[in-house]
This record gives sequence, structure tokens and C-alpha cells, in this order.
Amino acid sequence: MEDSVTGKVLGFLLSLLLLQHRHCSALEVTVPPDQSSPMGRDALLPCTFRVDNPPMNPKFLAILWHFGDKEVLRYDNKGKVSSPRVSIDERALLEGNASLSLSNVTVSDGGTYRCSVIYSPETQKKEIRLRIHALPEVVVAKRTLVRNQGTALRCSVTDFYPQRITVTWLRNGKVLPNSALGPLQQNADGTFRLNSTLTLTPSDTEDTPEIACLVQHESLPTPRRDSFRVQYGVPPSVQVYSAKINGRPEQVLVCEASQFQPEPVRIQWLLNGKIPEDLKKSRDGGFKTGSYYVINPTGGIQVGNISCAVEHETLLLPITETLQLSPEDTEAKYSAGNIAAAIFLTMLLMGAGITAGLWFLIYKRKYFQRFRVSHIHRSQTVEGKKVTLYCVASDCPKGPRVIWSVQGHDGKKTEVAEDEAQAEGEGKMLLGQEFTVRTDRTGTDGRHNVTSSLSFTPDVSAHKDMVVFCKFVCDGKAKEEQLHCSFISAKPKDYIKLSLSDSGEVLSRLTLQEFYPRGIQIRWSCGVGHYQELESINERFTPNSNYTYNTESECKILGQLFTDPGFKVRVTWNQQSSTGQGSREFSARDPEFPWCPWMEEIIKPALKHNSEGRFQCEIRGYFPKALEVKWLRREAGGQELFSVSPSEKYKIPEMEQKKEADGTFSCTAALIVSVSGKSDNGAEFICRVGHPSLGEPLDRSTGALSVTGVPVVRSCTQRGKYIIMEIDQFYPQDIGVTWQRAEKEPKDYKPIPDVQNKLYQNSDGTYRLTSICEGMGLMDRMNPNDFYFTARVQHEALNPPIQKEFLRKEGNPQTAVLSPIHMWGYLGFLPFTQISVHSTYLYFLHFYLYLD
Ligand SMILES: *[C@@H]1O[C@H](CO)[C@@H](O)[C@H](O)[C@H]1NC(C)=O
Ligand SMILES: *[C@@H]1O[C@H](CO)[C@@H](O)[C@H](O)[C@H]1NC(C)=O
Ligand SMILES: *[C@@H]1O[C@H](CO)[C@@H](O)[C@H](O)[C@H]1NC(C)=O
Ligand SMILES: *[C@@H]1O[C@H](CO)[C@@H](O)[C@H](O)[C@H]1NC(C)=O
Repeated sequence: MEDSVTGKVLGFLLSLLLLQHRHCSALEVTVPPDQSSPMGRDALLPCTFRVDNPPMNPKFLAILWHFGDKEVLRYDNKGKVSSPRVSIDERALLEGNASLSLSNVTVSDGGTYRCSVIYSPETQKKEIRLRIHALPEVVVAKRTLVRNQGTALRCSVTDFYPQRITVTWLRNGKVLPNSALGPLQQNADGTFRLNSTLTLTPSDTEDTPEIACLVQHESLPTPRRDSFRVQYGVPPSVQVYSAKINGRPEQVLVCEASQFQPEPVRIQWLLNGKIPEDLKKSRDGGFKTGSYYVINPTGGIQVGNISCAVEHETLLLPITETLQLSPEDTEAKYSAGNIAAAIFLTMLLMGAGITAGLWFLIYKRKYFQRFRVSHIHRSQTVEGKKVTLYCVASDCPKGPRVIWSVQGHDGKKTEVAEDEAQAEGEGKMLLGQEFTVRTDRTGTDGRHNVTSSLSFTPDVSAHKDMVVFCKFVCDGKAKEEQLHCSFISAKPKDYIKLSLSDSGEVLSRLTLQEFYPRGIQIRWSCGVGHYQELESINERFTPNSNYTYNTESECKILGQLFTDPGFKVRVTWNQQSSTGQGSREFSARDPEFPWCPWMEEIIKPALKHNSEGRFQCEIRGYFPKALEVKWLRREAGGQELFSVSPSEKYKIPEMEQKKEADGTFSCTAALIVSVSGKSDNGAEFICRVGHPSLGEPLDRSTGALSVTGVPVVRSCTQRGKYIIMEIDQFYPQDIGVTWQRAEKEPKDYKPIPDVQNKLYQNSDGTYRLTSICEGMGLMDRMNPNDFYFTARVQHEALNPPIQKEFLRKEGNPQTAVLSPIHMWGYLGFLPFTQISVHSTYLYFLHFYLYLD
């Protein structure tokens, strides 16, 4: 009793002591401000404390943890209360460790926690933030591109938290622009997901770059990436069609994917957009290119849209082909049609064209007591590609045997074995090296179903008369189906040749070669917008050694009709007993039209100021006779083209169109121009030709013109000691005049330095020059009669230059006292001797010059 009283007193004293120590912080709680934890792991929220005078008395200790306002854990001398997934280590408490453990944290565990430590009477609280992060998963789903076609790549970034994220695409390490970020979506657990798509259009020549999808996120110390080398592939072509089963109301729907690369494809049937229940239950047969679905008229599937969705590496979204089933298609025509089932068959049929495999599954009912065999169905035939024939047997109490055989035109029937290596020579010979047989078997309730296929590449010469048999033997009972290979055909190669008749008609000849079967119908028609049938001459079919045929058809069309560029001629051909058809169409505008005009270069004259120049251009080889010719002019240094029309300056002679021996036309277009140096130098003329066969007119240009004016020596005067020469009408202005003088004899001429030239421009743009030569110096002590002078005029329009000589006339000094001299005036009466004439531009004038 006394002990307990003493204890109480002591306890009281202790609390008093503690009370006093409060002011000196007897309790100290420490937490880090932040704690980060990956999602799904266990997180620890550290909280430690210290008391001033250990050891601690657990009686006075209480720990509280809050998440926001909610108390998640309480520990005191009455014990521990906590939310699920939350705990503390009670033994560590007395060592001052109140850290909280949270197991399997989720996004919703992120937030602010409060650690409160009470060591009576002291209390201290600290807050700590828990950040949850989730690491993104990065996957590029489709890694195969299609050459020369925009292919979308998708990078799926999933399960990340928080939402801030950066997605980048790289090609060989370089950032690619133009990627598109899809909408951010949140998962049920609070994490986020996102798609980024990038569309690439690789060219034929591009190699295999490395593409990477790079993701940066706060949870990742270094970016996370999914990178791969580009592969190239071919997207599948998908076809859906239906066929009946022998003597049964059911229908087989076939979905076939072909010509794709790489493997595999995934094929799924959808009824009105949903996967039907009975299909969901069926197992995936690992098939690759074909899927068969046998529907029952009165079963679950009746009327609606049945679609086949094909997924492939090259496709971001599946290709979906839909068949609309009408009530007639599924109508029960047979009394027993009320039970039945859906058989789901799937077939493997390589895009590269190798194997075929099927599996099927029957929801069997009692009705199927009888063993049945379907017709031989065949896949679509594309010339040069494999064709697959398939045959289905169902409800055999024992596993049936399948025997394919073929019969050539010799009537001999040969079995084709499933294993190619065991194939007998003849079957191999008939079908070619690369045929395949494949059989898939399934069974339910002791009933066996078989789907078998035979693939080969059809060839006219080998297979046109072949008959294929498919025999199933079920418990000693055999059923056989047969198919004549009359579906085999060869499309013709077509050529069109056009020529002209003497009477101006276009003869159009179509040649069709190597087609099969023989029957073909050719029709010609023509018109503008609306076509009218044309008469034609069709020739016989001529056989080729490979059993194919050739034929020709010719049709005459009035040539003038082609004057309208919209006029078209069309020829179509239809192969009988096959779906083969083709057509060709042409008009004057087509590149194949053989009679477009062509132009020679423009023949240019030498252009002289004040004279006429004739430009001309030959145009040939055109048909019909519907040519338009225009002359255009472009000013020196200008851009604009002006139309040239007949005027004082221009003459455009009438054009004469000549018919040539080959039926085409030709003509010469001409333009005559009165040339002026000022206005025409540097200008350009263009001859423009339009014709129904031309989309854009043809142009020929003269190029920038260069005009010259020929210098004319107007006069030569002597005035005192000067000789003055006037040169006129030259263009361009550059001209050279040199004077020379000889003494006593007309040889050893020396240049005269004292020459003055004055240049003037005439109103018509040409130039005039006065050249004044100081013939006699002050120092000349000689008899002036002993001097000889020459003047030489050089200009680009002169070849050779003008050379003038002024000679002394012996023995008659007086006659040549000429002041002024008009040279041309004197030519008639002056006593002069012509020394020589080198050309029309070279004049030698001899006259006696008397100088006072
Ligand atoms: C506190 O206890 C936890 C276990 O609850 C332990 O993981 C942690 O290391 C301890 N902290 C210190 C500082 O001892
Ligand atoms: C962790 O939590 C998630 C979601 O709350 C749950 O699906 C998972 O089973 C838990 N894991 C463990 C180990 O308890
Ligand atoms: C990403 O694309 C796939 C395929 O189209 C789609 O199923 C998924 O929902 C998309 N995710 C987001 C977050 O948009
Ligand atoms: C089938 O498709 C057609 C055309 O798209 C539509 O008009 C029709 O309503 C669809 N039928 C069903 C049952 O969904």
C-alpha cells in the first residue's frame, strides 16, 4: 500500500520534472520531409524521437499516425489500433523509432502523413509526405513498315504515375518530329496510360533504320526505351465470301488473307461487331491465312453483318471485311435444319503461298448422324498465284481418310499424296513442283471432321483440262467430289497501234495475245463524254503452242474527230467463261497518241537596222490538221510576252500546211520584221504552237536578238590641214577609226596621232561619227603633194573594215583642190583609179590631194 502511495508521489514528482523539462524540449521528433516509394511495394515512413533522460517509460508514451485527417495508427499504454496494411515495430519504439510501415502501397496512399509522439506530458508532431511513383512500361507494338506507304507506329506507355511524362521518337538516335500524343487515360488503380503514334513512309531504297520510343519520367533515373530495327512487310489482302455445303442448309463463310508478310495474321469473326459466344468458346487453331465459319440457318447466328477482322504486323487497326447475311441466305430449306451447329474452321494458307491447314469444331447434335462431304470450294484465283481447293467432311464415326487425285486430258487419274516427298511422279508432273496438300482433323463426341486442302499454281497449258477429285473414306464408305479446272484462265497482253489512212482516217488496231480460254469479245466505241459503238473488223483467233490464243481487231475513226481533245476512243474486251476483262482508252491528249507536232529551231536572219528580217520555223509530224501558230515578243530585259500582229513593222505570211507521205502534216511559220536597232536589239520573238494533242503549247524562241547598223561614209572633206570624214548609220555605237600617212610613196604608212572623233546619236537610234585628222603638222617641210593618207573604219557590222586611201595624182596637182569634197558626188567624175575591191564593204578611193 505504502509502496503504491510512494510510487504515485514519485510519479507525480516525475511528471513535474518532465513538465519543467518541456521548456527545454525534452522530447525531440525527427522525420524526413519527403519519402518516395514505388507502387506495389512496402513503404517506410521514418519517424524517430529522443527523450532527454532515457530509459523511456512506456507508460507515458503514445504514438499517433495520421494520413490527412484520418488516424491510421494509435499506440499507447492500452495497446495498438491500426488500419490494415499499416504497422509499427513495437520493440523499436523504446529505442525512439516510431517509423510506420505501409505494405503494398497504391496511388491512393500518396499524401501527407503526421507522426505524433506523446511522452506525457510532452507532445510533438511532424509531417512527412509520401510520394508514390509507378514506372512506365514502354512497348512499340507494330514494328513492321510498308514501303512507299505511310505506316503508323504506336508506342504504348502504360502504368505510370504521376502523369507528367515525355515521349520521344528516335531514328538512328536522331529525334523525329511529328509524332502525335494520344489522350491520357487513367487506370482503375490510379496509374496512367498513353499512346504516341508516328507515321513513317519509307521509300524503296531506305535500309533498316533503328527506331526507338524513348520515355522520360520522374520515376526513371535514365529514360526507358523500346528500340528495334525496322522490318518491311506487306499488309494482307482480305476477302470474305460464302459457299454452300453439299445438300445442307449450312453455309461456309470463308475469310482469306493473302500476300502478306511476315507471318502470322490473326483472323477473327465478328457478328454485328461482337465476337459470337460459340466462337469465343472455340479454340485458336494457330491458323495463319484463312478462316472458315460454317453457319447454321436456325442456330444462334441468323441475320446480320458477319465480319472478318484481320490483324497483322503492318496494320495499326485490323482490316475488316463484312458480309451482310440476308434471311434467304440462312433460310431453313430442310426440315431437319432446326438443330445443327456452327462449325468453325480455320485454315492455314501461307501468304508466300505454301501450306494450308484447317481446323474446325462442331457443336454437334444428334442430327449429324450421317457422314457428309462438301463440294470442292476454291479460293480466289489470281493469275500466277496459288489457288487453294478445299473440301470438308463431317460426322464420320471414325477418322476418315482423304484422297486427292487429279486427271489430265489423257484421262488417267493419279493420286496426290499429302506428303510431297512421297508424291508419285505423275501427280507431281501434273501439278507442278510446288503443290501442297494439307489435312486438319478435329472431333467431338466421337465424331470426326476433316478439312483438307490442295494448293497449286494454275497454268493454262498444264491444267486447262484437269479434273480434281477429293475422296473421303469413312468407315469403308467413300464419298467423292470433283471439280473441273475450267476456272483457269489467262488474261491477254494488249497492244494498240495507230496509223493514218490515205483518206485521213485513224486506223486503230488492238492486238490481244496469249489469253485463255478462246472466246473473247471486243467492242470499240468513241465520243466526247458519251460513247457510241463503232464498227470494227475482228480477226480470227490464232492458237499458240502453249494452248493460248491471239487475236486482233481494227477500227477506223474519222481523223477530224480528234480535233476535240475531249474526244476519246475506247476498246473493251471480255473473256467468255471467266471474269477477265480489260479496256484501253485514248484521245489526242494521251502520251501514246503518235502525232504531236514538233518544231525545228527558228531560223534567224542577220538583223540589219532599217532592213527586213524574216524568221521562220518548221513544224512537222502533226495530225489532225488543226495547228494554231502565234508569234510573241518579249522586250529586252522584260518578262511579259506580247502578241505580235500584222502591222507596218510586222508581216505574217499565210501558212501553208502540207500533207506528207505518212499522212501527217507540216508547215512553215514565218514572221517578217522591219528591223530597228533601237527597239529590236535584245528583244526576243517566240513562235508558239497549239494542237489538240498538246496540253501545253510548244514554244520556240529566237533568243535575245542582236541588231547591227552598217556604217556608211557620208563625206570626206579637206579643210586646211584637216581631213574630215563623216560616218553615219552604224549600230551599236562602238566604232574604230584610224588614220595613217605615208611620204613620197604609198607604202610604209605611219599612224597619225592627232585625231579627234565626235559621236552623235541619230533619232532612229543609230550613231554618226565625225573624225577629224590633222594631216599636216607645222614641221612638215615637204611638198604637200608627196603625202598619202589612209583611213580605216572598223565596226562589228563590217567585215572586212572600210579602208580609204587619199593618193596624190601625179602631174596634175591642181585638179584635186577639193574643198569640200563630197565623196559620193565625186565618184562619178574625179580622176581616180580603183586599186582593188575586196568585198562589198571595202572601198578604195584614190584621189589626188592638193594642199596649199
Ligand atoms: C526503425 O524501424 C524500422 C522497422 O520498423 C527499420 O526498418 C528502420 O531502419 C529503423 N530506423 C532506425 C533509425 O533505426
Ligand atoms: C497489392 O494491392 C493490389 C491492389 O490493391 C492487389 O491487387 C495485390 O494483390 C496486392 N498485393 C499483395 C501482395 O497484397
Ligand atoms: C492505345 O492504342 C490501343 C490500340 O488502338 C488501344 O487499345 C488503347 O486503348 C490505346 N490506349 C490509350 C491510352 O489510348
Ligand atoms: C449491317 O450493316 C448495314 C450497312 O452497314 C446496316 O445498315 C445494318 O443495319 C447492319 N445490320 C445489323 C443487324 O447490324
